[in-house]
This record gives sequence, C-alpha cells and structure tokens, in this order.
Amino acid sequence: MSVPILQVEQVHRRFGGVKALAGVDFEVNAGELVGLIGPNGSGKSTLVNVITRMIDSDAGRVVVDGADLTRVAPHRVADFGVARTYQRLRLNPELTLQENAATGVLYRHQRPFASALRLWFDVRSTRDAALAQADAALDLMKVPAAVRGKLPKEVPFSLQRRTEIARALVAKPKVVLLDEPAAGMNPAEVVELGELLAAANRQLGVTVVLIEHNMEFVMRVVQRITVINRGERIATGTPAEIRNNPAVVEAYLGTRGEAKASAQA
Ligand SMILES: Nc1ncnc2c1ncn2[C@@H]1O[C@H](COP(=O)(O)OP(=O)(O)OP(=O)(O)O)[C@@H](O)[C@H]1O
Ligand SMILES: [Mg+2]
Repeated sequence: MSVPILQVEQVHRRFGGVKALAGVDFEVNAGELVGLIGPNGSGKSTLVNVITRMIDSDAGRVVVDGADLTRVAPHRVADFGVARTYQRLRLNPELTLQENAATGVLYRHQRPFASALRLWFDVRSTRDAALAQADAALDLMKVPAAVRGKLPKEVPFSLQRRTEIARALVAKPKVVLLDEPAAGMNPAEVVELGELLAAANRQLGVTVVLIEHNMEFVMRVVQRITVINRGERIATGTPAEIRNNPAVVEAYLGTRGEAKASAQA
C-alpha cells in the first residue's frame, strides 16, 4: 500500500521574468527512493528550496506526512521531518567531519519542555549524544572513523559529500532531498554512493529524493523517476518508462548542448 509522504501541488515560483516553477506537481510515497530529473534550469533546485522553505512559493501547496508545510517558519522544517543537502556543498569549514555531521541535531529546534530542561542541565551529555548520532550516520555513509576528526578540506570531495548526507540523516528526517550528490564524483565513487543511499533508504526507512543529472546512475538506483521541464512535471514512471518517454527525450534534446552533455555525463 502506498502512503504519500510528500505532496507538492501546483507550486509556482517566479524570479523576475523567469518562471522557475510553473505549477509543478510532485508526489512521493513513504519509503520510496525516487529520482527527480530535468534539464539545467528546469527548476529542480528551486523546488527543493521551496519544499525546505528556503524560499517562498508564489502559489501552491507542500504537504509532508499530512502536515501543510507551505508557510511554516523555515527553522521548523526539520521538525516536520524534512532534511536536505545542497547542490553546492555547505559544510562548516571550521568544524571536523564528525562535528559537521553532529550539527544535524540542531536542525530540530522544537523540543518538548522536558528535553529543553535536560539540555539546560546537561549540555555535555547532549553534545556526546549528538556526536554518537553523528558517528552512527557516518558509519552508514562509510566515512572512515580515522578521518572524522579532520576538517572538510583535508579529505576527498566524495567524503565531504557523504558527511553532508550524514548531517541530513542525523536530523532523523522522514524525507531527505539530495541535490545532485553525485556531482563531482568519479565513476567508482558514484557507484558506491548509490549503494549507500539504497542502504540508508532500506535501513532507516527514510524516503529519499535524489536530484541527478547522471542518468545511468539515477536509473540504476531509484524505483521511480519524476521529470520536470520549464518548471512543470512532464513525466513520472519507472526508469524504463522514463527512458522511452518521448516528452522526456524531447525535453533533453531540446535544450542546449551543454545541458545535453551534462545530462549524459
Ligand atoms: N535566486 C534566483 N534568482 C533568479 N533566478 C533564479 C534564482 N534561482 C533560480 N533561478 C532561475 O530559475 C530557473 C530554475 O533554476 P534551478 O536552479 O531551480 O534549476 P535546476 O533544475 O536546479 O538547474 P541545474 O540542473 O542547473 O541545477 C533558472 O532559470 C534559474 O536561472
Ligand atoms: Mg539545481
């Protein structure tokens, strides 16, 4: 039985004269690992920014696990069970990998009174608990224990990306939105990332939305794909259905050579 965990209904967002989102619909069921693809500039990151309340939509609705998220305060998004990573990696350069991952607990602002009181009386055990949660997520993302005390700039890019995913998982989301996590990774690292995401999806039961340009990767890893173009959904289906969908082929061929190249990369 499929239970919707994320429902995006007719969302619009304009930047000056640019219609970044033009009435996009997007649904994800609990426990799914889905792909969100589309040519450069089709509105994928804008959609993630709207869902996570980093920007306002002009119209439409976002519902997560039955709760309307459309106008909630941005700092409460994590409480509704939504976490993300960024197209341009955003780790704190002055914190270690372990500390960066631990900051995921801070996303959950609203604490019941009892735990706020506990925080007050026992900052240290809270810190230790956060670091323990970070370690569990870093284990899952296979960030070796030996490098967790290093700064982001001291480790390969793929480990920085995986640390950012761990930080999102530490917030214990129902849905995690990953904006091109494989970008900048080599082919072996991309394959490993796919395995790690599938493991997180399976072991934590977290619903995963994977934004991706690497078609081969996304088609191999996800169960279902939604394609957007010019801020609208043009297709949704299994990887096999999407591969043969004329509207999708048209959308990718209709864009500039640069977009085609990165779509096939
Ligand atoms: N803050 C902004 N100000 C002005 N225009 C913006 C802004 N953010 C996005 N846009 C425009 O909205 C459109 C959609 O951009 P968006 O970044 O969502 O696309 P995308 O699908 O994520 O593309 P890519 O695959 O290149 O990451 C583009 O035309 C972009 O230039
Ligand atoms: Mg983007």
